[in-house]
Amino acid sequence: MWCFNMRKKLLLGNWKMNKLASEAKEFAIASSPLVNKALKNNIDLGVAPTYLSLAQVKQHAHPNMIVAAQNVHFQTSGAFTGEISIPMLKEFAITWALVGHSERRTYDNETNEKCNAKVKALLAEKMVPVYCVGETLAEFEAGQTKVIVGTQVRDGLKDLTAEQVKELVVAYEPVWSIGTGKNASTEIAEDVCKFIRDVLKDMFGPIAEEIRILYGGSVKPENIKAYLSCPNVDGALVGGASLKIDSYEALLNNII
Ligand code: PGA
Repeated sequence: MWCFNMRKKLLLGNWKMNKLASEAKEFAIASSPLVNKALKNNIDLGVAPTYLSLAQVKQHAHPNMIVAAQNVHFQTSGAFTGEISIPMLKEFAITWALVGHSERRTYDNETNEKCNAKVKALLAEKMVPVYCVGETLAEFEAGQTKVIVGTQVRDGLKDLTAEQVKELVVAYEPVWSIGTGKNASTEIAEDVCKFIRDVLKDMFGPIAEEIRILYGGSVKPENIKAYLSCPNVDGALVGGASLKIDSYEALLNNII
């Protein structure tokens, strides 16, 4: 009989536009014992460095460290100045990518349709998308959270099959809590993550029970345990608190 705690926990650091490649390499080397510790405790550990640091981190980190790109283009090549394709990531053995982070939705016009093209392209190449969703402060205050998040999930994951979405990860990050120190309560996190799972069930059936849903937004060593104790929160996507190795280690220690 299947139960929710069979989903493996995932701690994923999102470094955003931080760290020189030399600093990323230093972190990668220092993180090796942490990956061993995580493995022993059945936890997946990962980071999403900038494009320019991906190869360094992949080369110097523990082989089980998940190394994710922060973005990817849906076309394999062509006239798309400034973009990076899936084959380019695969050449460096990068098999994970964030899609639709709210900063990209806000500053780079990342629409649900564009996210859908990216998710489809990644899954077609057996890569793992971490599809990010979340409402703005105005939407939250207007009581629109589930309308917005529901649309993001339905449109961003449109035309996929149950078989395809098995490896997918979804991250719920209320925009108003990202980098602001304003935490969503654990009740909100659980309520929205459960809602996301219900939408996934409606779209894809029972496989939704296997899809990992992360919470993100001002997650810190002090509050990570409370979030991960929620039945439908399977891990955390962490920005600021994932940058320093000590803090990253504390995040891990507090969910063991
Ligand atoms: P934060 O960022 O932990 O610094 O709030 C989270 C994210 O944007 O993924």
